[in-house]
Amino acid sequence: MLVSAKEMLDKAKAGHYAVGQFNINNLEWTKAILATAQELNSPVILGVSEGAGKYMTGFTTVADMVKAMINEMGITVPVALHLDHGSYDGCLKCIKAGFSSIMFDGSHYPIDENVAKTTELVKMAHDNNMSIEAEVGAIGGEEDGVIGKGECADPQECKSIADLGVDMLAAGIGNIHGKYPENWEGLSFETLDAIQQLTGDMPLVLHGGTGIPEDMIKKAISLGVAKINVNTECQLSFAAATRKYVEEGKDLEGKGFDPRKLLAPGVEAIKATVKEKMELFGSVGKA
Ligand code: 13P
Repeated sequence: MLVSAKEMLDKAKAGHYAVGQFNINNLEWTKAILATAQELNSPVILGVSEGAGKYMTGFTTVADMVKAMINEMGITVPVALHLDHGSYDGCLKCIKAGFSSIMFDGSHYPIDENVAKTTELVKMAHDNNMSIEAEVGAIGGEEDGVIGKGECADPQECKSIADLGVDMLAAGIGNIHGKYPENWEGLSFETLDAIQQLTGDMPLVLHGGTGIPEDMIKKAISLGVAKINVNTECQLSFAAATRKYVEEGKDLEGKGFDPRKLLAPGVEAIKATVKEKMELFGSVGKA
């Protein structure tokens, strides 16, 4: 079922676990993530960046594909289709295309402008029964060509954005997209704690889920994180499994070049990564 992310995240926050957002790039990714969520009876959020949306020929294609797959695959667990790091225009497009959730990333605007734009989008999203995520404090690393430094959010600014009625809040706590560098200082739990104190029941979102050690993930969940985004880790496991298949010359055996065979190990690798994350986040059996 395609649903807004609000209910699943409120339940996760109250139940002290987190729902995974796994970014999709194509049909194989989507199928692998949906199948794993169903198998584990877990709620799931499919994340679509603006770049991935463009790659898949547009948000309407994505929304139609996801809805059809939910139907054809008999998926009964709650699924949210969520725009990841959306611009203002991207949010409008996804509202029109039939997504069930959006993220407005206004973190690069001065706080007043972030507040003004978020306020407008909260109304539009809720009028369309969609959930909305906002961001305060840039997440570091690279996302669709935008490089962020990974600063920590100001808890007061988080409160002012949370008070606008958003359903979930991404706050920078030293997390970055992509692989973490050797000299990474780790998550700032002090910042996370201060944010949770001021934002109360608001489900908090941890971006850059790839490569965060298990103990830090668990601690973040205990301090109010109810949604964790994972993208790079699925890409790495897909690429490694595909490389192994080709390096072993399997594409040259029989009809091993058939895309359904060539991409199968990568799909299995994505499923294994998603399963591992759902178990770690505690969302298994929570659908
Ligand atoms: P990673 O690519 O580091 O897993 O981050 C994903 C993310 O935060 C998407 O918004």
